[in-house]
Amino acid sequence: MPKAELHLHIEGTLEPEMMMALANRNGVALPYADAEAIQAAYRFNSLQDFLDLYYTGMSVLHTRRDFFDLAFAYLEKAASQNVTHAEIFFDPQAHTERGISFDTVLSGLTDALDKARRDFGITARLIMCFLRHLPEEHAFDTLEHACRCKEHIFAVGLDSSEAGHPPSKFDRVFAEARRHGFVPVAHAGEEGPPSYVHEAIDLLQVRRIDHGNRALEDPVLVARIVREQIPVTVCPLSNRSLQVCPDLALHPLKHMLAAGMLVTVNSDDPSYFGGYVNENFLAVQEALALTRAEIATLARNSFVASFLPERQKAAALAAFDAFSAKW
Ligand code: ADE
Ligand code: ZN
Repeated sequence: MPKAELHLHIEGTLEPEMMMALANRNGVALPYADAEAIQAAYRFNSLQDFLDLYYTGMSVLHTRRDFFDLAFAYLEKAASQNVTHAEIFFDPQAHTERGISFDTVLSGLTDALDKARRDFGITARLIMCFLRHLPEEHAFDTLEHACRCKEHIFAVGLDSSEAGHPPSKFDRVFAEARRHGFVPVAHAGEEGPPSYVHEAIDLLQVRRIDHGNRALEDPVLVARIVREQIPVTVCPLSNRSLQVCPDLALHPLKHMLAAGMLVTVNSDDPSYFGGYVNENFLAVQEALALTRAEIATLARNSFVASFLPERQKAAALAAFDAFSAKW
């Protein structure tokens, strides 16, 4: 199926083989002997467990070419799975905090987006995330960088350790980002309570909720998400890996669809969680016995919930409907 991917951290696509290769290329010492040892370390009890390895892993990324290699490999893989459009998170603070310049990161990523569009016809946009475990002042510094390169960054997001870092902590920087024309989104309700989802909507004025699982604990919130058709980017294999939902047979995706939520399927950090977007579709189909109609709705929703310009969105939906009719 043609589809868009809307919840994907580019640093989470760093495969163990590339991590080893870049560690050698840049003379970075990793606490792993080889790619198998990296893979063996991927057992997580919580979001924080994963984030500790995620930040260690990305320490091998140093040069513009490294960021190009990382993003181009993802886009090639995504295109091979018939992803025709991707809205990609990146975490500039995880790089600037260790002395890599914002411009090195952004130029490598945009080089890859340009080449992938030429080579595979895949379109992509960048969503710059603020790390929520850091103070809001640091996010303001990062926003200043983004304001110099507005043509390359479409949206701002909020990620990293959720518990104890509510959206309200970033109220002012999101207001400033919106004033500059960046579209707001935020991770909310992955581990954090439903009140964080409320805050993301009310204070940050998000146009999508990333994860949103715990919104289901609050029926008033669910009714609002349905009424306002606020898209929710669900990441099944991530939810299983991070113990948000250890058994996919109990995953709420089918209920979310039945409730009328505009939900999409995404891979989050595919190299860490065992699969790209198609593997996520296959896993939920198998675990939840999704019907063909449900699968088609999930894929179609990815275009509806995308930030594609209206004309491109209409064209993508027409192409999807033509595919669907044949299928
Ligand atoms: N950064 C990368 N993946 C993340 C996730 N699933 N939640 C929060 N922050 C992240
Ligand atoms: Zn995420």
